[in-house]
Amino acid sequence: MVEITPSFRVELEEIYEVLITTLSPEKHYNVAPMGVIFRSDQEIELRIFNTSNTCRNLQHVGKARINFVNDLFLFYKAALDKQHFPETALSWKSPDLPPGIKNAWLILDVQVHAIKKQREMTHFVLKIISKQEKIIRTAPFCRSHYKLLETIIHLTRLPIFKERDPYEFASLKEAIDENIRYVRAHSRSETALCVLDLILTYLDNF
Ligand SMILES: Cc1cc2nc3c(=O)[nH]c(=O)nc-3n(C[C@H](O)[C@H](O)[C@H](O)COP(=O)(O)O)c2cc1C
Repeated sequence: MVEITPSFRVELEEIYEVLITTLSPEKHYNVAPMGVIFRSDQEIELRIFNTSNTCRNLQHVGKARINFVNDLFLFYKAALDKQHFPETALSWKSPDLPPGIKNAWLILDVQVHAIKKQREMTHFVLKIISKQEKIIRTAPFCRSHYKLLETIIHLTRLPIFKERDPYEFASLKEAIDENIRYVRAHSRSETALCVLDLILTYLDNF
């Protein structure tokens, strides 16, 4: 494990789910959920589909903020309903920097250090420039939150596999259905049930 701040230690080479904020060259902000991997206490790696806004923004502007947030609703909005991402959840330090997420317990300001472009994905190495930690106690995810976070990840991948790989598409659908059954049967969490409703509506329109 390595120490990122005195109260936050991470496993190297494991994936941590975050909201990453970036700016386009025209200074429009973007929020997206991504998985980040710590390579050391100074360096973070990201593997991003070339088609995403985040990939383009990192290539062209080279700055981002990595927001550690325990908020399932914000993950849903950033992944699947970006037009309605609540602006009230954002805070700005300056118009030249991507916004932060207000209820993040840790924000890392990062700068692109290296880029390796591959056929479908780009690998970025990001250097940590500064850190803002808030000592706030947010509830950790409960099991139904983890199940729904995984479901949201699957949902972002469904359109890719729909065209290309019927077998992978069917197995993603099965995993989604299983998670939905679990949450319906076991969850009493208001947030989980609200996000479950959003997911069901999203699936109806898929
Ligand atoms: C928790 C979570 C983690 C994700 N991690 C990644 C990732 O590491 N790389 C990636 O390309 N997409 C990842 N996605 C999917 C992107 O968030 C999704 O494609 C999103 O639409 C990209 O937004 P953008 O085009 O605004 O950048 C993840 C989704 C979720 C919900």
